[in-house]
Order: sequence, then structure tokens, then C-alpha cells
Amino acid sequence: MALHQLSSVTIGVPNVGETAGYYADFGLIDLGDGTFATIDGGRQLRIVQAPTRRLVDLTVGADDADDLDRVAAGLSGLGLTAVLEGGALRAREPASGVLARVEVSPRLEQPFVPPTPYNGPGRPERTDDRAPGVLRDEPVRPLKLGHVVIGSTDHEATSRFFTAGVGFKASDYIAGGGAFLRCSTDHHNVLVLSAPVNFLHHTSWQVEDVDEIGRGACAMLEGHPERHVWGLGRHHAGSNFFWYLKDPAGNFSEYYSDMDCIIDDQLWTPETLEGARGLFSWGPPPPPSFLHPEDLAALMTGSHAPR
Ligand SMILES: [Fe+2]
Repeated sequence: MALHQLSSVTIGVPNVGETAGYYADFGLIDLGDGTFATIDGGRQLRIVQAPTRRLVDLTVGADDADDLDRVAAGLSGLGLTAVLEGGALRAREPASGVLARVEVSPRLEQPFVPPTPYNGPGRPERTDDRAPGVLRDEPVRPLKLGHVVIGSTDHEATSRFFTAGVGFKASDYIAGGGAFLRCSTDHHNVLVLSAPVNFLHHTSWQVEDVDEIGRGACAMLEGHPERHVWGLGRHHAGSNFFWYLKDPAGNFSEYYSDMDCIIDDQLWTPETLEGARGLFSWGPPPPPSFLHPEDLAALMTGSHAPR
């Protein structure tokens, strides 16, 4: 029938133990074998040893074997060979080097969570009580992996791999070098960015609402101000609230909530976003290191140091 989910990612880092500790602090559930789970999505992150930080692979969920055939045909149309192994189809994206896997898996049905009550003009949704966001005291736990952002030295080739090859749909574009691509009803599951070197820009993790973004990020920054990258803000593309933090290998990780959901492809019109809109709608000014992380030069020369 169709692709339906970004199921998991594998990140390679030089400092596995330290980075694993960060993702445990981030709220992912440490399964003890280098993998981490979310509340709704199950096992969605694997951290492995690599000489420099990178996205090693990503796995996309599909409904049935016909989907795998379609992906293989799409990749073949680009002159690429996909290998079927253990029920999963895999192919390497030639520009960025990322390995893409497509496997048949059940659709993720997230349990219904009642909307957070917010008071508005003429609209008292919460009376005689404090806001849930100030009463919650349990640690923030991401509900699912939302998207991964790939910096590519040939963003057009990388985008084509995911669209014409794997079957992602384009939701929006950034003028001059970015494509927001989806393989589910989320506005984007993969964002391909033009970059001077192939690298992992960020992974993004869904939380319940904007209060969980704030609570999660503030907890991460306690005693670790160096983890802060950019937030709180709201993107234009995808509309989601965001806060970006940095792991000890230099990869960014994002808490997000309230992302655009595209159910009917006919009702969504992709836009090409110019200037600041490509980055955000509101929030603090993005730091220069958001688009050009401080270790990019080191990654380009291959002499990357973890800090
Ligand atoms: Fe993001």
C-alpha cells in the first residue's frame, strides 16, 4: 500500500558511552545494547562506534511486499541496486553515503492523548486549577522519532534518492538547498540540506505539547549549558514548536510538538520558503552554528574531535 513511518536511525559517533548517556538524559529508554526506545515507537535509535559523527542508516516502514517491489523499481530507475535481505530492502544513497532500509512493519498507532487544556479569550478550558505544564514533574519522555536531517554535498541527488527512489513525497522546499520529505502523515520525516560536507544535522523527537519541549530542554540544560543550541521557537515548515540541543558528539537533537499532519496529499501545496521562513516562524535568532555546526571544518578535513 504505502510507506508509513520513519522507524529508526543509527548514529555513528566516536564517543559511544558519553553520547548514550546524553540520549538517556534526553528521555529515551536505554535498552542496554546500544539501542534506545521511545514510548510509542519502540526501539528507534542505535548508537554505534564511528571515527566521526554521522548518520549510518535509517529504516522506513512499509505496509507490504508490493511496496518493497516499488522501492526496488524506483531505485533501479536511478541506476541503483537495492538488496533484499532478511525481509528488508536496503540501498546506499550514493551522495551522502547513508544506508536506507525499507521493511514491512505494522503501522504505528499512537494512543489518543486528550488535548492539553489552554485558557483563551472567552474560552476557559481549564478552570479552578493550575496548568498541567506547571504541575507535571515526571521526566520528559519522547513519544516517537519524528525526522532526521541529512546534510548532503549533493542535496538534489540525495532528495531524488528519497523521492524518485524510495517514494517519499515533498512537503516544502528551502530556496537554495533543502527539501522537506515525508514517508508518513508527518510534514517531514527526512529533510535534506545542502552542505559542504555530508553530516547528520539533527534527529527530532516528538513530545506531547510545547510545555514538554520547555520542560525537557530545561532539564537537559541543568548543569549542561553547553547543550543549548536554539529554542524555544516555531518553524514555518511543519509549523512545529522546537528546541534544539547538542549531544557530546556534536549532533543536534530536537524536541518537537504540533507538527503539520498531511492526510490528503491533494490538499497540501508544497511551497518554496525564502530567507528566514525556511528556518523558522518565530523564536530567538538562530545561532550561526545552527546551519554551520562548529565542527563542520573538522568533519571536512576528517580530523574531527568529539568536543
Ligand atoms: Fe527538525
